[in-house]
Amino acid sequence: MIKAHGGSLVNCIAEDEERRELLEKARSLKDSRRLELGPREVSDLEMIAIGGYSPLEGFMTREDYESTLRYMRLASGLPWTVPVTLAAFREEARGFREGDDILLTHGEKGVLAILHLEEKFEYDKRLEGELVYGTTDEAHPGVEALYRRGQVLLGGKITLINRPEHRDFLPYRLDPAQTRRIFRDRGWRRIVGFQTRNPVHRAHEYILKSALEIVDGLLLHPIVGETKKDDIPADVRMRCYQVLLEESFPEERVVLAVNPSSMRYAGPREAVFHAIIRKNYGCTHFIVGRDHAGVGNYYPPLAAQEIFQEFSREELGITPLFFDNSFYCKRCGGMASVKTCPHSNGDRLSLSGTRVREFLKKGEIPGEFTRPAVAEVLVQWWRRSAC
Ligand code: ADX
Repeated sequence: MIKAHGGSLVNCIAEDEERRELLEKARSLKDSRRLELGPREVSDLEMIAIGGYSPLEGFMTREDYESTLRYMRLASGLPWTVPVTLAAFREEARGFREGDDILLTHGEKGVLAILHLEEKFEYDKRLEGELVYGTTDEAHPGVEALYRRGQVLLGGKITLINRPEHRDFLPYRLDPAQTRRIFRDRGWRRIVGFQTRNPVHRAHEYILKSALEIVDGLLLHPIVGETKKDDIPADVRMRCYQVLLEESFPEERVVLAVNPSSMRYAGPREAVFHAIIRKNYGCTHFIVGRDHAGVGNYYPPLAAQEIFQEFSREELGITPLFFDNSFYCKRCGGMASVKTCPHSNGDRLSLSGTRVREFLKKGEIPGEFTRPAVAEVLVQWWRRSAC
Protein backbone atom coordinates (compact mmCIF):
# COMPACT_ATOMS: atom_id res chain seq x y z
CA MET A 1 0.00 0.00 0.00
CA ILE A 2 1.33 3.45 -0.94
CA LYS A 3 2.41 5.53 2.07
CA ALA A 4 0.53 8.73 2.87
CA HIS A 5 2.23 11.97 1.83
CA GLY A 6 5.05 12.63 4.31
CA GLY A 7 5.10 9.00 5.49
CA SER A 8 2.08 8.37 7.70
CA LEU A 9 -1.62 9.05 7.62
CA VAL A 10 -2.60 11.85 9.99
CA ASN A 11 -5.48 11.39 12.41
CA CYS A 12 -6.46 14.42 14.52
CA ILE A 13 -9.77 13.08 15.80
CA ALA A 14 -10.07 13.04 19.59
CA GLU A 15 -11.59 9.92 21.10
CA ASP A 16 -12.78 8.65 24.50
CA GLU A 17 -11.05 10.38 27.43
CA GLU A 18 -9.32 13.04 25.31
CA ARG A 19 -12.62 13.89 23.63
CA ARG A 20 -14.45 14.15 26.98
CA GLU A 21 -11.75 16.47 28.30
CA LEU A 22 -11.85 18.65 25.22
CA LEU A 23 -15.64 18.87 25.34
CA GLU A 24 -15.29 20.03 28.93
CA LYS A 25 -12.70 22.58 27.90
CA ALA A 26 -14.89 23.74 24.99
CA ARG A 27 -17.68 24.56 27.42
CA SER A 28 -15.33 26.68 29.53
CA LEU A 29 -13.88 28.73 26.65
CA LYS A 30 -15.30 32.23 26.55
CA ASP A 31 -16.74 33.90 23.45
CA SER A 32 -13.46 35.79 23.00
CA ARG A 33 -11.77 32.41 22.36
CA ARG A 34 -14.26 31.09 19.81
CA LEU A 35 -14.33 31.29 16.04
CA GLU A 36 -17.28 30.41 13.80
CA LEU A 37 -16.11 28.79 10.55
CA GLY A 38 -17.56 29.06 7.06
CA PRO A 39 -18.20 26.00 4.86
CA ARG A 40 -14.78 26.13 3.18
CA GLU A 41 -12.91 26.13 6.46
CA VAL A 42 -15.14 23.34 7.79
CA SER A 43 -14.27 21.11 4.85
CA ASP A 44 -10.55 21.87 5.23
CA LEU A 45 -10.79 21.14 8.95
CA GLU A 46 -12.39 17.78 8.27
CA MET A 47 -9.81 16.93 5.60
CA ILE A 48 -6.96 17.73 7.98
CA ALA A 49 -8.52 15.67 10.78
CA ILE A 50 -9.12 12.54 8.69
CA GLY A 51 -5.69 12.64 7.05
CA GLY A 52 -6.84 13.71 3.58
CA TYR A 53 -4.24 16.51 3.78
CA SER A 54 -1.46 14.45 5.41
CA PRO A 55 1.12 15.49 6.58
CA LEU A 56 -0.74 18.65 7.67
CA GLU A 57 -1.94 18.39 11.26
CA GLY A 58 -3.47 21.82 11.34
CA PHE A 59 -3.80 25.11 9.51
CA MET A 60 -0.56 26.46 8.08
CA THR A 61 1.80 28.63 10.08
CA ARG A 62 3.69 31.40 8.27
CA GLU A 63 6.70 29.32 7.31
CA ASP A 64 4.67 26.62 5.58
CA TYR A 65 2.35 29.20 4.04
CA GLU A 66 5.13 31.28 2.51
CA SER A 67 7.07 28.24 1.39
CA THR A 68 3.92 26.86 -0.30
CA LEU A 69 3.38 30.15 -2.11
CA ARG A 70 6.95 30.64 -3.27
CA TYR A 71 8.37 27.15 -3.69
CA MET A 72 5.31 24.86 -3.94
CA ARG A 73 6.70 22.99 -0.95
CA LEU A 74 6.18 22.88 2.80
CA ALA A 75 9.02 24.29 4.90
CA SER A 76 10.24 20.67 5.22
CA GLY A 77 10.73 20.58 1.43
CA LEU A 78 7.82 18.20 0.82
CA PRO A 79 5.78 19.11 -2.31
CA TRP A 80 2.67 21.12 -1.43
CA THR A 81 1.08 23.56 -3.85
CA VAL A 82 -2.07 25.11 -2.33
CA PRO A 83 -2.28 26.97 1.01
CA VAL A 84 -4.49 25.41 3.67
CA THR A 85 -5.14 28.32 5.98
CA LEU A 86 -7.68 29.56 8.50
CA ALA A 87 -8.57 33.21 8.01
CA ALA A 88 -10.34 35.46 10.49
CA PHE A 89 -11.31 39.12 10.42
CA ARG A 90 -9.20 41.42 12.60
CA GLU A 91 -12.12 42.06 14.96
CA GLU A 92 -12.74 38.32 15.40
CA ALA A 93 -9.09 37.54 16.09
CA ARG A 94 -8.39 40.56 18.30
CA GLY A 95 -8.56 38.61 21.57
CA PHE A 96 -6.65 35.56 20.32
CA ARG A 97 -3.10 35.15 21.66
CA GLU A 98 -0.44 32.81 20.35
CA GLY A 99 -0.40 29.78 22.66
CA ASP A 100 -4.20 29.98 23.24
CA ASP A 101 -6.62 27.18 22.56
CA ILE A 102 -9.38 28.46 20.29
CA LEU A 103 -12.72 26.73 19.91
CA LEU A 104 -13.79 26.29 16.29
CA THR A 105 -17.56 26.12 15.82
CA HIS A 106 -20.03 25.84 12.98
CA GLY A 107 -23.80 26.25 12.84
CA GLU A 108 -26.37 24.76 15.17
CA LYS A 109 -24.36 21.75 16.24
CA GLY A 110 -21.65 24.13 17.35
CA VAL A 111 -18.49 22.58 18.68
CA LEU A 112 -16.13 21.17 16.06
CA ALA A 113 -12.51 21.39 17.13
CA ILE A 114 -9.82 23.04 19.16
CA LEU A 115 -7.17 25.06 17.34
CA HIS A 116 -3.90 25.16 19.28
CA LEU A 117 -2.94 28.61 18.05
CA GLU A 118 0.76 28.78 17.30
CA GLU A 119 0.90 31.85 15.11
CA LYS A 120 -1.33 34.72 14.11
CA PHE A 121 -0.18 36.70 11.09
CA GLU A 122 -1.36 39.03 8.34
CA TYR A 123 -0.94 38.06 4.70
CA ASP A 124 -0.92 39.58 1.24
CA LYS A 125 -3.99 38.40 -0.66
CA ARG A 126 -2.83 39.82 -3.98
CA LEU A 127 0.45 37.96 -3.69
CA GLU A 128 -1.43 34.74 -2.96
CA GLY A 129 -3.66 35.42 -5.97
CA GLU A 130 -0.67 35.99 -8.20
CA LEU A 131 1.34 32.99 -7.03
CA VAL A 132 -1.37 30.38 -6.45
CA TYR A 133 -4.00 31.32 -9.03
CA GLY A 134 -1.77 33.14 -11.51
CA THR A 135 -4.11 36.15 -11.37
CA THR A 136 -5.42 38.89 -9.09
CA ASP A 137 -8.64 39.16 -11.09
CA GLU A 138 -11.66 38.86 -8.81
CA ALA A 139 -13.71 37.40 -11.65
CA HIS A 140 -11.70 34.23 -10.92
CA PRO A 141 -13.83 32.25 -8.41
CA GLY A 142 -10.83 31.16 -6.31
CA VAL A 143 -9.50 34.70 -6.09
CA GLU A 144 -12.97 36.03 -5.31
CA ALA A 145 -13.24 33.58 -2.38
CA LEU A 146 -9.75 34.64 -1.23
CA TYR A 147 -10.68 38.35 -1.27
CA ARG A 148 -13.79 37.65 0.81
CA ARG A 149 -11.75 36.12 3.66
CA GLY A 150 -10.43 37.86 6.75
CA GLN A 151 -7.01 39.53 6.90
CA VAL A 152 -5.50 37.42 9.68
CA LEU A 153 -4.30 33.84 9.36
CA LEU A 154 -4.42 31.54 12.37
CA GLY A 155 -1.85 28.78 12.21
CA GLY A 156 -1.60 25.74 14.45
CA LYS A 157 -2.50 22.11 14.98
CA ILE A 158 -6.11 21.10 15.44
CA THR A 159 -7.89 18.41 17.41
CA LEU A 160 -11.32 17.47 16.12
CA ILE A 161 -13.98 16.93 18.78
CA ASN A 162 -17.07 16.43 16.60
CA ARG A 163 -17.25 15.56 12.92
CA PRO A 164 -19.10 18.19 10.87
CA GLU A 165 -22.70 17.09 10.52
CA HIS A 166 -23.52 15.63 7.11
CA ARG A 167 -26.94 14.63 5.91
CA ASP A 168 -26.01 13.74 2.34
CA PHE A 169 -23.96 11.03 0.58
CA LEU A 170 -23.55 9.14 3.86
CA PRO A 171 -22.66 5.74 2.30
CA TYR A 172 -20.07 7.50 0.16
CA ARG A 173 -18.29 9.40 2.93
CA LEU A 174 -15.23 7.21 3.23
CA ASP A 175 -12.14 8.45 5.07
CA PRO A 176 -8.64 7.72 3.72
CA ALA A 177 -8.22 4.91 6.26
CA GLN A 178 -11.45 3.35 4.96
CA THR A 179 -10.65 3.56 1.22
CA ARG A 180 -7.20 2.11 2.00
CA ARG A 181 -8.84 -0.81 3.82
CA ILE A 182 -11.23 -1.42 0.90
CA PHE A 183 -8.34 -1.43 -1.61
CA ARG A 184 -6.43 -3.87 0.58
CA ASP A 185 -9.46 -6.16 1.00
CA ARG A 186 -10.03 -6.19 -2.74
CA GLY A 187 -6.38 -7.04 -3.35
CA TRP A 188 -5.82 -3.94 -5.51
CA ARG A 189 -2.20 -2.86 -5.82
CA ARG A 190 -2.52 -0.17 -8.49
CA ILE A 191 -5.40 2.24 -7.99
CA VAL A 192 -6.19 5.27 -10.12
CA GLY A 193 -7.92 8.28 -8.53
CA PHE A 194 -10.26 10.55 -10.45
CA GLN A 195 -11.14 14.09 -9.41
CA THR A 196 -14.26 15.68 -10.84
CA ARG A 197 -16.60 18.57 -10.20
CA ASN A 198 -18.75 18.21 -13.33
CA PRO A 199 -21.50 15.84 -14.44
CA VAL A 200 -19.89 12.89 -16.14
CA HIS A 201 -19.63 13.10 -19.93
CA ARG A 202 -18.15 10.82 -22.59
CA ALA A 203 -14.64 12.32 -22.31
CA HIS A 204 -14.58 11.50 -18.59
CA GLU A 205 -15.81 8.00 -19.32
CA TYR A 206 -13.21 7.54 -22.05
CA ILE A 207 -10.27 8.57 -19.88
CA LEU A 208 -11.61 6.62 -16.89
CA LYS A 209 -11.78 3.43 -18.93
CA SER A 210 -8.44 4.03 -20.64
CA ALA A 211 -6.81 4.45 -17.21
CA LEU A 212 -8.60 1.47 -15.70
CA GLU A 213 -7.17 -0.74 -18.46
CA ILE A 214 -3.70 -0.43 -16.90
CA VAL A 215 -4.47 -0.57 -13.17
CA ASP A 216 -6.47 -2.81 -10.80
CA GLY A 217 -9.16 -0.42 -9.63
CA LEU A 218 -10.64 3.06 -9.82
CA LEU A 219 -11.49 5.51 -7.05
CA LEU A 220 -14.15 7.81 -8.52
CA HIS A 221 -13.79 10.72 -6.15
CA PRO A 222 -16.01 13.72 -6.94
CA ILE A 223 -15.58 16.86 -4.88
CA VAL A 224 -18.68 17.76 -2.85
CA GLY A 225 -17.48 20.77 -0.85
CA GLU A 226 -18.13 24.27 -2.17
CA THR A 227 -18.01 24.79 -5.93
CA LYS A 228 -18.80 27.90 -7.93
CA LYS A 229 -22.43 28.95 -8.25
CA ASP A 230 -22.99 27.84 -11.84
CA ASP A 231 -21.47 24.36 -11.36
CA ILE A 232 -24.09 21.58 -11.24
CA PRO A 233 -25.06 20.74 -7.61
CA ALA A 234 -23.26 17.78 -6.04
CA ASP A 235 -26.39 15.65 -5.48
CA VAL A 236 -27.27 15.83 -9.19
CA ARG A 237 -23.70 14.98 -10.16
CA MET A 238 -23.74 12.03 -7.76
CA ARG A 239 -26.85 10.62 -9.44
CA CYS A 240 -25.03 10.92 -12.78
CA TYR A 241 -22.01 8.96 -11.46
CA GLN A 242 -24.30 6.29 -9.98
CA VAL A 243 -26.13 5.89 -13.30
CA LEU A 244 -22.83 5.68 -15.18
CA LEU A 245 -21.47 3.01 -12.83
CA GLU A 246 -24.64 0.92 -13.00
CA GLU A 247 -24.63 0.98 -16.80
CA SER A 248 -21.05 0.91 -17.76
CA PHE A 249 -18.51 -0.33 -15.18
CA PRO A 250 -17.99 -3.68 -13.43
CA GLU A 251 -18.95 -3.13 -9.79
CA GLU A 252 -15.88 -4.93 -8.46
CA ARG A 253 -13.50 -2.51 -10.19
CA VAL A 254 -14.76 0.81 -8.86
CA VAL A 255 -15.15 2.57 -5.51
CA LEU A 256 -17.34 5.68 -5.53
CA ALA A 257 -16.61 8.00 -2.60
CA VAL A 258 -16.91 11.74 -2.06
CA ASN A 259 -14.11 14.20 -1.43
CA PRO A 260 -15.39 16.68 1.17
CA SER A 261 -13.04 19.52 0.24
CA SER A 262 -13.91 22.64 -1.77
CA MET A 263 -12.79 23.61 -5.26
CA ARG A 264 -10.17 26.35 -5.53
CA TYR A 265 -10.04 26.49 -9.37
CA ALA A 266 -6.27 26.94 -9.09
CA GLY A 267 -5.64 24.88 -12.25
CA PRO A 268 -2.05 23.51 -12.30
CA ARG A 269 -1.35 23.96 -8.59
CA GLU A 270 -4.64 22.36 -7.71
CA ALA A 271 -3.87 19.38 -9.97
CA VAL A 272 -0.83 18.55 -7.81
CA PHE A 273 -2.86 19.20 -4.64
CA HIS A 274 -5.60 16.86 -5.93
CA ALA A 275 -3.00 14.18 -6.66
CA ILE A 276 -1.54 14.43 -3.14
CA ILE A 277 -5.03 14.12 -1.62
CA ARG A 278 -5.71 10.94 -3.64
CA LYS A 279 -2.34 9.53 -2.59
CA ASN A 280 -3.53 9.95 0.99
CA TYR A 281 -6.69 8.02 0.11
CA GLY A 282 -4.44 5.16 -1.10
CA CYS A 283 -4.26 5.78 -4.86
CA THR A 284 -1.04 4.99 -6.74
CA HIS A 285 -2.08 6.85 -9.91
CA PHE A 286 -4.03 10.01 -10.62
CA ILE A 287 -5.75 11.23 -13.80
CA VAL A 288 -4.89 14.70 -15.05
CA GLY A 289 -6.73 15.60 -18.23
CA ARG A 290 -7.27 18.78 -20.18
CA ASP A 291 -7.43 21.99 -18.12
CA HIS A 292 -7.65 20.13 -14.81
CA ALA A 293 -9.30 22.30 -12.11
CA GLY A 294 -9.31 25.18 -14.56
CA VAL A 295 -11.90 27.87 -15.07
CA GLY A 296 -12.47 30.24 -18.00
CA ASN A 297 -9.25 30.82 -19.93
CA TYR A 298 -6.94 31.41 -16.99
CA TYR A 299 -4.70 28.40 -17.65
CA PRO A 300 -3.31 26.86 -20.83
CA PRO A 301 -5.02 23.45 -21.35
CA LEU A 302 -1.92 21.38 -20.56
CA ALA A 303 -0.42 23.57 -17.80
CA ALA A 304 -1.87 21.23 -15.16
CA GLN A 305 0.23 18.41 -16.65
CA GLU A 306 3.43 20.40 -17.18
CA ILE A 307 3.60 21.47 -13.52
CA PHE A 308 4.35 17.86 -12.51
CA GLN A 309 7.84 18.30 -14.03
CA GLU A 310 8.66 20.46 -11.00
CA PHE A 311 8.63 17.37 -8.78
CA SER A 312 10.52 14.11 -8.87
CA ARG A 313 8.65 10.81 -8.95
CA GLU A 314 10.01 9.84 -5.54
CA GLU A 315 9.00 13.01 -3.73
CA LEU A 316 5.48 13.00 -5.15
CA GLY A 317 4.98 9.26 -4.77
CA ILE A 318 1.77 9.13 -6.80
CA THR A 319 2.06 8.74 -10.59
CA PRO A 320 0.07 11.18 -12.73
CA LEU A 321 -1.62 9.75 -15.83
CA PHE A 322 -1.95 12.48 -18.44
CA PHE A 323 -4.75 12.61 -21.00
CA ASP A 324 -4.91 14.95 -23.92
CA ASN A 325 -8.11 16.69 -24.95
CA SER A 326 -10.65 13.92 -25.70
CA PHE A 327 -13.64 14.41 -27.99
CA TYR A 328 -16.27 12.53 -29.94
CA CYS A 329 -15.20 12.14 -33.58
CA LYS A 330 -17.99 11.58 -36.09
CA ARG A 331 -15.67 9.88 -38.58
CA CYS A 332 -13.98 7.66 -35.98
CA GLY A 333 -17.51 6.88 -34.73
CA GLY A 334 -16.41 7.17 -31.09
CA MET A 335 -14.23 8.87 -28.54
CA ALA A 336 -10.64 9.74 -29.35
CA SER A 337 -7.95 12.34 -28.73
CA VAL A 338 -5.47 14.10 -30.99
CA LYS A 339 -3.20 11.13 -30.31
CA THR A 340 -5.63 8.60 -31.77
CA CYS A 341 -7.78 10.48 -34.30
CA PRO A 342 -6.51 11.52 -37.75
CA HIS A 343 -9.54 13.68 -38.65
CA SER A 344 -10.09 17.41 -38.57
CA ASN A 345 -11.69 19.69 -35.99
CA GLY A 346 -14.88 19.87 -38.07
CA ASP A 347 -15.51 16.15 -37.37
CA ARG A 348 -15.03 16.53 -33.64
CA LEU A 349 -17.51 17.34 -30.89
CA SER A 350 -15.61 18.91 -28.03
CA LEU A 351 -16.78 17.94 -24.54
CA SER A 352 -16.64 19.91 -21.30
CA GLY A 353 -18.73 20.84 -18.28
CA THR A 354 -19.36 24.25 -19.84
CA ARG A 355 -20.81 22.58 -22.96
CA VAL A 356 -23.12 20.44 -20.77
CA ARG A 357 -24.57 23.61 -19.30
CA GLU A 358 -25.03 25.08 -22.81
CA PHE A 359 -26.90 21.97 -24.01
CA LEU A 360 -29.05 21.96 -20.89
CA LYS A 361 -30.29 25.44 -21.73
CA LYS A 362 -31.58 23.94 -24.99
CA GLY A 363 -33.24 21.11 -23.03
CA GLU A 364 -31.39 18.21 -24.69
CA ILE A 365 -27.95 16.61 -24.50
CA PRO A 366 -26.84 14.56 -27.53
CA GLY A 367 -25.89 10.88 -27.01
CA GLU A 368 -22.39 11.53 -28.33
CA PHE A 369 -21.93 13.92 -25.46
CA THR A 370 -23.09 11.86 -22.54
CA ARG A 371 -24.99 8.59 -21.95
CA PRO A 372 -28.76 9.00 -22.42
CA ALA A 373 -29.40 7.83 -18.82
CA VAL A 374 -27.03 10.53 -17.52
CA ALA A 375 -28.59 13.13 -19.85
CA GLU A 376 -32.00 12.18 -18.43
CA VAL A 377 -30.87 12.91 -14.85
CA LEU A 378 -29.54 16.30 -15.93
CA VAL A 379 -32.51 17.33 -18.06
CA GLN A 380 -34.97 16.34 -15.30
CA TRP A 381 -33.02 18.41 -12.78
CA TRP A 382 -32.82 21.35 -15.19
CA ARG A 383 -36.59 21.31 -15.78
CA ARG A 384 -37.30 21.13 -12.04
CA SER A 385 -34.91 23.97 -11.23
CA ALA A 386 -36.31 26.13 -14.06
CA CYS A 387 -39.87 25.85 -12.62
S1 ADX B 1 -12.15 19.47 -12.68
O1 ADX B 1 -12.24 20.89 -12.29
O2 ADX B 1 -12.50 18.58 -11.60
O3 ADX B 1 -10.84 19.19 -13.30
P1 ADX B 1 -13.93 18.09 -14.53
O4 ADX B 1 -14.83 17.42 -13.58
O5 ADX B 1 -14.57 18.55 -15.80
O6 ADX B 1 -13.27 19.37 -13.83
O7 ADX B 1 -12.70 17.19 -14.94
C1 ADX B 1 -12.34 16.00 -14.31
C2 ADX B 1 -11.08 15.46 -14.98
O8 ADX B 1 -11.37 15.14 -16.36
C3 ADX B 1 -9.90 16.42 -15.02
O9 ADX B 1 -8.69 15.70 -14.91
C4 ADX B 1 -10.00 17.05 -16.40
O10 ADX B 1 -8.75 17.51 -16.85
C5 ADX B 1 -10.48 15.86 -17.23
N1 ADX B 1 -11.23 16.25 -18.44
C6 ADX B 1 -12.46 16.86 -18.51
N2 ADX B 1 -12.85 17.02 -19.79
C7 ADX B 1 -11.87 16.49 -20.57
C8 ADX B 1 -11.67 16.35 -21.99
N3 ADX B 1 -12.59 16.74 -22.88
N4 ADX B 1 -10.52 15.76 -22.41
C9 ADX B 1 -9.58 15.32 -21.53
N5 ADX B 1 -9.71 15.44 -20.19
C10 ADX B 1 -10.83 16.00 -19.70
